[in-house]
Amino acid sequence: MSVHLEDTRKVTTHRLIEMKQRGEKISMLTAYDYSMASIIDQAGIDVILVGDSASNVMAGNVTTLPITLDQMIYHGKSVVKAVKRALVIVDLPFGTYQGNSKEALASAIRVMKETHADCIKLEGGAEVRESIERILCAGIPVMGHLGLTPQSINKFGTYTVRAKEEREAEKLIADAHLLEDIGCFGIVLEKIPAKLAAQVASELTIPMIGIGAGNGVDGQVLVMHDMLGINKGFSPRFLRRYADLYDTITDAVQSYIKDVKTSDFPNDKEQY
Ligand code: KIV
Repeated sequence: MSVHLEDTRKVTTHRLIEMKQRGEKISMLTAYDYSMASIIDQAGIDVILVGDSASNVMAGNVTTLPITLDQMIYHGKSVVKAVKRALVIVDLPFGTYQGNSKEALASAIRVMKETHADCIKLEGGAEVRESIERILCAGIPVMGHLGLTPQSINKFGTYTVRAKEEREAEKLIADAHLLEDIGCFGIVLEKIPAKLAAQVASELTIPMIGIGAGNGVDGQVLVMHDMLGINKGFSPRFLRRYADLYDTITDAVQSYIKDVKTSDFPNDKEQY
């Protein structure tokens, strides 16, 4: 199937729900800066997530916990400036919405006012219900995130597949229904069994976007640096690499170094 580049209408949360209704899969990737966001928007991606994975791939932190609201706003602003068509979602970072719902609303309002993004995403189910409800009351669309929630990595202790046990699976199903009932427009399901993800996707009317959640969901999301092969050391089973930019960039940089060292660059045509 080819990408429909002629459909230049802005993607909205409402259009994502329509896509689910007609069985059209939703494509989503992360981006954190103007140049990459511009490329993937023009390539036809449906949704761009300014993920708190910026903490890992942009800032070099081991977890997503250290990234701040100011830093997420910086990345969000840069992405929004580049994007014409895709829906832009900005992650609320760790510590900016779990404590109390007033703080959650203040964080979400800052993101919306300062980045001009379309909506926010946050992690968790029943535990963050009050925060989500308050944000939704202010007219800010919210995407949920269940399963492996990296902001809780210190509680989980590992990045292995979640909800394999019945009790955790039941809680995930209940949380997904809760998020739909209170008004979230979609949910990211991260690293859970494919069968469970497909069940949740079939029970709910809002789109389920999977990462490591199999093919029975309504769309897929990957971290851009992973799918472009910029990260050499990260190879989970769910990741498909569509390019090998680590090697491509290394080759280009080494050619440049050689050309500089041998005085091959710049040549007569490359100067004034
Ligand atoms: O921060 C992020 O990149 C995410 C995706 C893994 C869904 O939340």
